[in-house]
Amino acid sequence: MSESASLHFEGKEISLPIITGSENEKSIDISKLRGETGLITLDKGFKNTGSTTSNITYLDGEKGILRHRGYSIEDLASKSTFTEVCYLLIYGDLPTKEELENFEHKIRFHTLVHEDFKIILEGYPSKAHPMGILSSLITSLTAFYPESLDPNRSKDLVDLSIARILGKFPTFAAWSFKKRNGHPIIYPDNSLDYCSNFLKMMFDLPSESYIQNPVVTDALNKLLILHADHEQNCSTSTVRVVGSAQSSIYPSISAGINALWGPLHGGANQAVIEMLDSIIKDGNNIEKYIKKAKDKNDPFRLMGFGHRVYKNFDPRAKIIKVAADNVLEKLGVNDPVLDLAKKLERIALEDQYFVDKKLYPNVDFYSGIIYRALGFPPEMFTVMFAFGRLPGWIAQWKEMRENKEPLGRPRQIYTGEKARDYKEIGKR
Ligand code: CMC
Repeated sequence: MSESASLHFEGKEISLPIITGSENEKSIDISKLRGETGLITLDKGFKNTGSTTSNITYLDGEKGILRHRGYSIEDLASKSTFTEVCYLLIYGDLPTKEELENFEHKIRFHTLVHEDFKIILEGYPSKAHPMGILSSLITSLTAFYPESLDPNRSKDLVDLSIARILGKFPTFAAWSFKKRNGHPIIYPDNSLDYCSNFLKMMFDLPSESYIQNPVVTDALNKLLILHADHEQNCSTSTVRVVGSAQSSIYPSISAGINALWGPLHGGANQAVIEMLDSIIKDGNNIEKYIKKAKDKNDPFRLMGFGHRVYKNFDPRAKIIKVAADNVLEKLGVNDPVLDLAKKLERIALEDQYFVDKKLYPNVDFYSGIIYRALGFPPEMFTVMFAFGRLPGWIAQWKEMRENKEPLGRPRQIYTGEKARDYKEIGKR
């Protein structure tokens, strides 16, 4: 017998079906609730609301579990490359050697962008934040590939758009950095693998060739994998909602980039390093900042701490903390911010406020320290998060479209004025 939950309202009892996921997580299906009772549910910030069913990522925030298509994040981060994980998320399984070669070949074919993108790039002021540039270049792909706007494209043509965005995203990301530095853009080099090509476009200069370093490439692969998907977070939900209006993949992902930019989401990695730098400038006064974070009247929050779903530990943060130690040691980088971050973590984790509220370091707490050691400036950190999250956004957009999900359109409870008479301007 299928399970159900009962709701009593105005003397009536209605039965709501229980939907169970493959890991036995349960939800109440309220799709008939309004029709039968006139009620809607209210859940600001969607803290208890499942917006969809999905086969892509499983996450248990209480136990600190994160799996993509059944594979643990620990295995993927230590054994896979980023392109393998892209394939896994988008197409549902780890690729065979041949499938991976074909996939990488397809992406490589699309790394070059139309020369007119250089004109768009030129129009930005040099201080433009790279996230703003990135989101607009991604949505500008619709101008160069208008056929991508057709919501009824064949599977092969959707795959073409996917290969295009995977190919061009690193080019745009690197060019947004070059713009900020006032340096000439570097064209993609298809003789290189995906991550090495990106690093070359980022750091090569006409005056000085970039020398590839396996420590850097490995660290980049790992960091991108750790950000690759995180089920229905703010930016991914944005991508799915925008896509549910049958918007094409480019504007949907561009919308995700904008959602990610906010400091409570992916923008936190930039905010963390800025916070740590200012604590150092302020004489390493950690206690002062812990006090500020606990003060209800102070808007300051300990950036890189807390998570909507992880209430025990963030498994990505655990891996990143170890990676930070390894990468900095291998590169011979001595960044005082790493020591400060560890000290801050120790103090916060022993503080009753953080214990009671179950606030732990999240993925953004240590990632910026590694990115800085790899040569990325803080304003590129969120771009790197977006780069990592790209396959997740693609997979979620694709799944939503293949499942023909309905238009995303929440309801509300109106709390404004009741109907009133219109007042002419002279009488207001
Ligand atoms: N520092 C101090 N207090 C905090 C923090 C923090 N970092 N995070 C949460 N709290 C407090 C918050 O003030 C609230 O207190 P109270 O119950 O007394 O009002 C309580 O903890 C619950 O916070 P919330 O904002 O209602 O919970 P949430 O689930 O909406 O917040 C969060 C999740 C990530 C927005 C929040 O923890 C936060 O602002 N963290 C700092 C920003 C950050 O690091 N963001 C990156 C998240 S991980 C990357 C990603 O996937 O986006």
